[in-house]
Amino acid sequence: MPEKKIIIVSNRLPVTIQREDGNLTFKPSAGGLATGLSSVYRQGNNLWIGWPGLYSQQEAEKDLITQNLRNDHMAPVFLTEEDVHEFYEGFSNKTLWPLFHYFTEYAQYQQVLWEAYERVNRKFCAQVLQYAGPDDVIWVHDYQLLLLPSMIREKLPNATIGFFQHIPFPSFEIFRLLPWRKQILEGMLGSDLIGFHTYDDMRHFLSSVSRILGHNNTMGLVKKENRLIQVDSFPMGIDYEKFARGTKDPQTIEKYKRYEKLLSDQKVIISIDRLDYSKGIKQRLKAMDIFFTRYPEYIGKVSLVLIVVPSRVKVDQYQALKEEIDTMVGWLNGKYSRMDWTPIHYFYRSFSFHGLSALYSSAEVALITPLRDGMNLVCKEFIASKLDKKGVLILSEMAGSAKELSEAILVNPNDIQQIVDAMYQALTMPEEEQIARNEEMQNKLKRYNIHRWVEMFMEQLEIVKQKQTELE
Ligand code: UDP
Ligand code: G6P
Repeated sequence: MPEKKIIIVSNRLPVTIQREDGNLTFKPSAGGLATGLSSVYRQGNNLWIGWPGLYSQQEAEKDLITQNLRNDHMAPVFLTEEDVHEFYEGFSNKTLWPLFHYFTEYAQYQQVLWEAYERVNRKFCAQVLQYAGPDDVIWVHDYQLLLLPSMIREKLPNATIGFFQHIPFPSFEIFRLLPWRKQILEGMLGSDLIGFHTYDDMRHFLSSVSRILGHNNTMGLVKKENRLIQVDSFPMGIDYEKFARGTKDPQTIEKYKRYEKLLSDQKVIISIDRLDYSKGIKQRLKAMDIFFTRYPEYIGKVSLVLIVVPSRVKVDQYQALKEEIDTMVGWLNGKYSRMDWTPIHYFYRSFSFHGLSALYSSAEVALITPLRDGMNLVCKEFIASKLDKKGVLILSEMAGSAKELSEAILVNPNDIQQIVDAMYQALTMPEEEQIARNEEMQNKLKRYNIHRWVEMFMEQLEIVKQKQTELE
């Protein structure tokens, strides 16, 4: 009998393939979903189905990619240029992403994008059906594939289907703006278990299900026709040991020494995100400006290492934001730089694991102030990397992780004065206080790590399947 497996399905695979000088290169994908689950999909017979990130029209190249991915527990869904434009850049990132992050003014409602969303969700469904066995667990991830659970259910009525949403689920008042709100909820309810990072996201979803579809719930259990669907919150953890161990890795240490030498007389604040308007990068830069004006004694003594990872580069809002950030950084550096000191070290690219690990362990402060974020793993990785427990996390209240990391300095990311105060507090915080706060946070992150997260989700999935059989 074939071994039971978990099939992870997400839009993006954990590796992104690019064509460079005629050759294919495989690079780790950016974003919390890919990094978070990367320790799961290689276990046993597990498989990850998703888009490899490039267009390929030649069958020979597709075969080569498929073969390479199969050797590493992955299977590709090839998208056409039109799919990428209308489904990925379009409905996923011009409609759902802004709406679900409360940027209603950015959300576009176009029938053609919706149709592409349906079409591409069907493509993913076809690929899942090729690989799914009767005992497998199909675990669908995130906002790009909200219709997929019910599409799979239609073909495999008894399948075990979990769904996890990595971004916020907005309140009913926001969600109801979506012309296809009914279809989206129906699509998600094809699952047996639906997970969110926070209790609030779960509550918002249940309220929309009740007000739009008329299905009420008891303790998160929804009855739809003859099926039971469990809805619950599961705050995603990180691979704690990987980050704790990472700081001791010789490659990290080599980089760490280099950074320490270059920034030896500086206190370093780090800011690490994909380039995204939801991350509050502009507000952070404004806060730096006010900070240096208000506390000129820190000029020459504090610098910001600003890592902005390229993301969704063909979407207008992302292009515009890139220009704004470039301008602000240039302006700030022009205003405050000295011959021997630069206030902002700006990197528009992604860093390797060891590069990140060295920055996490060497920085005095992490400034993580998204305007809205489903979870945010960077802040958790920063805390896990602090072997000596020294360092201060400034974290936005609007990140899902703020619910767990209450020992961080929590700020409202729209309150620039509060961010400035938090920076001062962080830079002057006594070491004993830093250690006490970080110890608490490390204990939580160690306990609720990524492995525990997967276990808890899978346990709940089994429980709901059991409840369903009792109902029959
Ligand atoms: N990351 C990375 N390289 C970088 C910067 C970030 O691999 O140069 C990773 C980081 O380690 C984290 C993920 O990208 O795991 C970002 O996840 P998060 O949940 O913070 O935000 P998202 O991008 O998913 O919105
Ligand atoms: C967030 C989303 C993921 C997405 C990632 C990177 O983490 O929750 O679904 O994969 O951002 O974005 P991208 O558009 O490059 O896949």
